[in-house]
Amino acid sequence: MNIDQIKKEFPIFDEKIKNNDLVYLDSANSSQKPKVVVDRINEFYTKQFSNVGRSVHYLAVAATNLYENTRTSVQKYINAKHKNEIVFTKGATEALNLVANTLGQSHLKEGDEVLITELEHHSNYVPWHFLRKSKNIKINFAEINEYGEITLEEIEKKITSKTKLISITHLSNVTGAILPLKEITQLAHSKGIIVVVDGCQGAPHLKLDMQDLDCDFYAISCHKMYGPTGLGVLYGKKKWLEELPPYQGGGGMINEVKKDRISYGELPNKYEAGTMATAQVIAFDQSIKFLESIGIENVMKHEADLVEYGQELLQKNNSVKLIGNPKNKGGVLSFTIKGVHPHDIATILDEDGVAIRAGHHCCQILHDKLNIPASARASVGVYNTKEDLDQLNESINNCKKIFNL
Ligand SMILES: Cc1ncc(COP(=O)(O)O)c(C=O)c1O
Repeated sequence: MNIDQIKKEFPIFDEKIKNNDLVYLDSANSSQKPKVVVDRINEFYTKQFSNVGRSVHYLAVAATNLYENTRTSVQKYINAKHKNEIVFTKGATEALNLVANTLGQSHLKEGDEVLITELEHHSNYVPWHFLRKSKNIKINFAEINEYGEITLEEIEKKITSKTKLISITHLSNVTGAILPLKEITQLAHSKGIIVVVDGCQGAPHLKLDMQDLDCDFYAISCHKMYGPTGLGVLYGKKKWLEELPPYQGGGGMINEVKKDRISYGELPNKYEAGTMATAQVIAFDQSIKFLESIGIENVMKHEADLVEYGQELLQKNNSVKLIGNPKNKGGVLSFTIKGVHPHDIATILDEDGVAIRAGHHCCQILHDKLNIPASARASVGVYNTKEDLDQLNESINNCKKIFNL
């Protein structure tokens, strides 16, 4: 992988941040955007704009075709069996809310149990909490081990005769643990349990194959995949999407509307009510092409090398404590420095142009478990280098000096 070349494709790296070159280590939060994606949005709005799926004029038909081309690209990228299993949403958060809401309406009843994990992002907890409130379902938590992992054995231990659904992250946005999803799905399905995956951190960094994985739903966040904000993808098995009720009502999702009855449209329109994020969807095709041009195997190898390098550096750095040490780890390095608040770490690193995130990363359950209010997190993407991690380490040393550590 030629990182210099890849970096040149991202205009943001031409910018100076407080007179420094940008060291962007916040891709788990949101990735930077390659020029092809930004240009595609501009081109669509300036030369091709129309709403999709409605009018029959030239621009409308062309825009609809472009929009549907992205759906086909996503289908191929994640190896979904059917194109109609791809639903565009406004983000992974909406995708997970859609699943919880529609399954909650139709398949979950009082006393049923939903199994999630202590690693979950609030987007994969709060929607189930709504059902706890409205339907009296029970939420159980699979617990992390000392390495910040969730094992198959732990999942098995927490499944009861009332477990109806497991909703689980692919890759933790804090410990970086990659979960044994295929095995979890096999186990769950052998007991008739539905599997929902929060794939926000999986999709940008791991090879995806929905038919092989066999989960029932998989939520994707496009802005973490070198794509535009305001866009997510819900993969759902056709049988589920056909069977479940609609999520939102409005234009585009109906078949027939009468004073006394309404019938809903076919998939995927049934789940795409109202005017969609048209430009974002069309530009997301370029994000997929960008990732394909590098090759996901190369992305995985590059990021695994980076995280191994960064982990070694930080492990050697006195007073830095890494959070989690999973065997199978994605490109996330969360840490604390004794005596320094994570927000201070992030603010001091920012003076050197090093962008990281500090806080609970929308994982308060995990931070409570670890007995810390917050942590600092450096996370990598295709454009990062070992030099970026050297700079991270050097800036951490500056921070320690300020605090006399
Ligand atoms: C693990 C995880 N789940 C869910 C989300 C929410 O994704 P979105 O911003 O697309 O709604 C994020 C984003 O921070 C995440 O990291």
